[in-house]
Amino acid sequence: MKILAIGDIVGENAVKRIERDLPLIKKEFLIDFIVANGENADNARGITKNIFERIINAGVNVVTMGNHTYSNKDIYEIDDYRLLVPINYKRETINKGYAIYKYGGNKIFVSNILGKGLGESLNAFNTIDEVISKIDDDIKIRVIDFHSEYGNEKRAMAYFLKDKISILFGTHTHIPTADEQILYGRVGYITDIGMCGPINSGIGYDLEFEVERYRKELKDDSKFCSDENCCFNGCIFEIDEQTGKTISVCRINI
Ligand SMILES: [Fe+2]
Ligand SMILES: [Fe+2]
Repeated sequence: MKILAIGDIVGENAVKRIERDLPLIKKEFLIDFIVANGENADNARGITKNIFERIINAGVNVVTMGNHTYSNKDIYEIDDYRLLVPINYKRETINKGYAIYKYGGNKIFVSNILGKGLGESLNAFNTIDEVISKIDDDIKIRVIDFHSEYGNEKRAMAYFLKDKISILFGTHTHIPTADEQILYGRVGYITDIGMCGPINSGIGYDLEFEVERYRKELKDDSKFCSDENCCFNGCIFEIDEQTGKTISVCRINI
């Protein structure tokens, strides 16, 4: 089966692009199951119930989050198993941070993990280890969205889980890396899949304001860029359903 992972969806125009293009991409690449990071969908900060529903209706099976999970309190209105918040968030969370989904005759384990320094969190390695060691052996397909700032942390996690997972893709930096590969003969890996967001921006933020912010050393938060021209970054992983091993990885940047 083919699983598509989509990078952080940043803002209204990116949500519109997902609605417009995802059905076509799904058909063109024969995609079976889609995981998308939605932590920035509400104009860079968090997600709303309405946006979540629009992303799901466009064809996404699971929406994962990150350090912006609770930036919009509207997330508390979403009571849906297709939304996953980081498994190791220390504060009150709205779900367990992992779930098992059924697709065709397959069961797919998906989890979202928060990396070091991105808010108050429990140890990422110990938390996922505890959960994944209790997952039934018959759940062969296992997907991790590791939301982390650091390439070495993401790579270390892939090594740590090398016998237990099918896919580890990184999110958060919004910059796609060119290291998509199959590690240890089974784990489909990419350090960061990038974003679906405004091209002429600084990872989704307004560049004019960023220049001011850096020149004047302002303490203000970045401002969202509303440029309509959005990129679509993702990665397609082909999985052997019998073994749970990844057999091909293809990065896409449209
Ligand atoms: Fe993000
Ligand atoms: Fe993030």
